[in-house]
Amino acid sequence: MTQANPSFPRPDRLTRPVRRIAIVGASGKLGQYMVQHALDRGWEVVGVCREQSVSKLARFAERITIVPGPTNDAEVIRRAVAGCDGVLVVLAPWGVNRQYASGTAQAVLDHAEPGARLVFSCGWHITRDGQDQYSWAFRLMLVVFRWIGLLTRFAELDDQVEACRRIFESDRDWTVVRGSDLEEGESEGLPVWSAHVGDPILKSNRTRRVDFALFMVEALVDPALSQQAPAIVSRLAPSALAHAPIAQTA
Ligand SMILES: NC(=O)c1ccc[n+]([C@@H]2O[C@H](COP(=O)([O-])OP(=O)(O)OC[C@H]3O[C@@H](n4cnc5c(N)ncnc54)[C@H](OP(=O)(O)O)[C@@H]3O)[C@@H](O)[C@H]2O)c1
Repeated sequence: MTQANPSFPRPDRLTRPVRRIAIVGASGKLGQYMVQHALDRGWEVVGVCREQSVSKLARFAERITIVPGPTNDAEVIRRAVAGCDGVLVVLAPWGVNRQYASGTAQAVLDHAEPGARLVFSCGWHITRDGQDQYSWAFRLMLVVFRWIGLLTRFAELDDQVEACRRIFESDRDWTVVRGSDLEEGESEGLPVWSAHVGDPILKSNRTRRVDFALFMVEALVDPALSQQAPAIVSRLAPSALAHAPIAQTA
């Protein structure tokens, strides 16, 4: 189990109620699920997305505030997170030499309100303490994705790694949620988690995207996840069911 900074959770972080949140990357698949979960809880939502993606949020337009712009633009983020008790951030590795993920993370770390809960999404490839155990197939997939991403200038996985390095070094009230392979479908409930990839409970490596979003939203109000990097899996996945007695839930 990864040890959190001994100063966490601080009392002020346990009691801060959530009323208004920002969702950075709100127009993507994960983002739209998070918007719905947050509205279901009665929270005010400020969504940040690229100008060309505003129309994807049309069904929420009457109920949320939308701040259009690149998510790695510090001024866009500063406006969006003002007055927010929490921020949910989709960290995406898209593009090369744009520092999109690291710039987005940095802007949120720099401009979020003092004491705000900050919850970031990424994949299992991110490791906080080097204690994760990856299969050869997973490692191979990463090598292929890394090189194809660079050659096609489609994605830069290392910038997402850099984004998380900055988050892990920060003394902010952060959580980095590491998603397994994602699939669409009806909710299976709140995923279970473990501190390290390679733990038997995670073996099935699958989570419904709607439940990844649920875990992100739940992390905003769970002080036990402060300065943690939970790797998640569906609570109905065979590996989760097999290890249910020791499963950790958010
Ligand atoms: N896909 C998986 O199997 C998987 C597995 C594990 C973890 N994750 C993690 O889950 C999170 C969401 O991933 P997802 O695959 O489900 O995708 P997603 O929710 O659709 O999110 C993709 C995000 O990237 C943005 N985006 C797309 N192209 C872009 C570009 N060229 N420049 C800048 N931003 C761009 C999208 O914004 P627009 O709406 O503006 O396009 C959207 O906010 C990520 O943090 C990812 O690391 C994914």
